[in-house]
Amino acid sequence: MTHSTASAPSTPVVARTGEELQALRPKLGRLALVPTMGALHAGHRSLIAAAREHAESVAVSIFVNPLQFGPNEDYDRYPRTFDADLAACAEEGVDVVFAPTVKDMYPDAGPDGIGQIVTVDPGSMGRVLEGEFRPGFFQGVLTVVNKLFNLVRPDVAVFGQKDAQQVAVVRRMVRDLCLPVTILSAPTVRDPDGLATSSRNVYLSPEERTSALALSRALFAGADAAPSGPAAVLAAAGAVLGEAAHATPPVSVDYLALVDPATFTEVDGDYRGEAVLAVAAWVGETRLIDNVPLTL
Ligand code: PAF
Repeated sequence: MTHSTASAPSTPVVARTGEELQALRPKLGRLALVPTMGALHAGHRSLIAAAREHAESVAVSIFVNPLQFGPNEDYDRYPRTFDADLAACAEEGVDVVFAPTVKDMYPDAGPDGIGQIVTVDPGSMGRVLEGEFRPGFFQGVLTVVNKLFNLVRPDVAVFGQKDAQQVAVVRRMVRDLCLPVTILSAPTVRDPDGLATSSRNVYLSPEERTSALALSRALFAGADAAPSGPAAVLAAAGAVLGEAAHATPPVSVDYLALVDPATFTEVDGDYRGEAVLAVAAWVGETRLIDNVPLTL
């Protein structure tokens, strides 16, 4: 679809079902999809901008996917801001917003669950780091991403490097299951103080937000130590997080790991090459993740 940048932003077409989307699909040409759970922020806007560079039309999906939330996670309180999201999509020149209901995505959903029998198994990559602390998370992500690909039929899909393990697992699914879509990732967007943008940042009180800055500080300290090797990277980042454990409020680390960017297995002491330093930590009731790419 074509856009005039001079005129006021036009509201994207909103499709609620796969059928509505299929009716639009022939007009969209080469299509890039940005899959989201809504609560759009600057990070999502940068994904949309990247998508625009690779396609004639851009679709954004907005769906808070119940299958990727554990029983004690924040599915119910996850921010749902559809009107603001639609306005953001209009400003960014998005052509189509795909916003299905749970029933559209999981037709057998009912009071006892979502009724999905067949799911996508992320294999060993889905059991480490995020997968270890959030069992079933990547199975839920891959299953819904697969459905989105089948319903939207994009040529390209753009994901944020902020969720580096998610990008790696999605890339692996595309490769292992021969899915006809190209996966692109776009760099993490940070607030001026270093905090990675995230829909969950709205949960943080001002004091928690200050404590949360330890995550990016730790990653930057680790990246600075990269020339000295893996042990130095982990020691530098670990020292910052160790201090943050005594902050008020404290930062409680789930994991800090230096991993191969493609497989997310931890690298050994004499590893050289591209790596990702990844962290997940709790501040109050909020769980945050962040990472930096680095070269050893
Ligand atoms: O990164 C997200 O927002 C979600 O995990 C995704 C990819 C939209 C799947 O629900």
